[in-house]
Amino acid sequence: MEIKEITREGLLMEDFIQQKSQEVSSLVGDGLAVNALSGGVDSSVVTMLGHKALGRRLKSYFIDSGLMRSGEPQHVVALFKTLGVEVEIIDAQKQFFDALRGKTDPEEKREAITQTFYALVFAQLVMQSNASYVLQGTNYTDIEETVAGIKRQHNIIEQLGIDPQKEYGYKIIEPLLQLRKPAIRDLGRALKLPEELYRRPPFPGPALAARVIGEVTPERVEIVRQATAIVEDELQASGAFQYFAILHEDRVTGVRAGRRDFGMQIEVRCWESDDAQTGIPTNLPYDRLLALGTRITSEVLGVVSVTYNITRKPPSTIEAI
Ligand code: XMP
Repeated sequence: MEIKEITREGLLMEDFIQQKSQEVSSLVGDGLAVNALSGGVDSSVVTMLGHKALGRRLKSYFIDSGLMRSGEPQHVVALFKTLGVEVEIIDAQKQFFDALRGKTDPEEKREAITQTFYALVFAQLVMQSNASYVLQGTNYTDIEETVAGIKRQHNIIEQLGIDPQKEYGYKIIEPLLQLRKPAIRDLGRALKLPEELYRRPPFPGPALAARVIGEVTPERVEIVRQATAIVEDELQASGAFQYFAILHEDRVTGVRAGRRDFGMQIEVRCWESDDAQTGIPTNLPYDRLLALGTRITSEVLGVVSVTYNITRKPPSTIEAI
């Protein structure tokens, strides 16, 4: 890998911001760039950096893939409005669910999401806004895991030998490529993002699709969305690196009101980690685990079983697909 990591300790913040702003600004020149804000740490930081560098030459969108958490598009857009950044919501739910229909293999699902983002949605946005560049927050860990063949992160394009200009009709600028998550959080703070944004637990590009084992349908995403809201509510005070719900493919036998209930299974994961390269499950209090089981099985219709993952990364990965 030719890209050289800048460690958190080695990051000279003001120099980095100035250098990257200049690079981005001179690449885009008199033209325009677009970017997709998801509200995750990386995309929030790159949106702020991009606006600092490009001002009105950057148009930011929130792509509503139908795979986001409850109320997320509106919440993130409202937050950025308070920072003086206008973000337009694009409804692309149909495109994503059409592309995911019938797919159960994790890498096929990731590929479907990547293609929908880059070849369909971005390509259209770039064309409509007459832009030549897409600005995105790919980080060092994303490249490392994709190049090592562990998991294709949805935003890795050029490092896989794909020329975005040829394939999709635009160039990609990635100012965060040399940084890992802790350094990106520091950069977010330096760029005056609210703490809620730069401290946010990571959320994967494929969004809730990374947390549905088997076919990703609107109905199945809704189940994991409801379970995720409960897990986030119960565990946000834990201080853990990342915590979420996963919907399993297999059903199991449960019992409700004395009758068999062949229902769905939710797995809860909660990780201690610094940069997602390795991880260990959080030592959650037993009553907190029981509360999760009780709330999920009573509030999410059709779920009869909740498990807690007790595997380290490696051999597990943080997400399930
Ligand atoms: P894994 O599951 O590979 O996750 O151990 C490592 C970190 O990356 C996030 N993740 C992703 N982020 N696109 C992303 O932007 C992806 O496809 C993706 N897969 C995993 C994950 O949430 C964790 O923080």
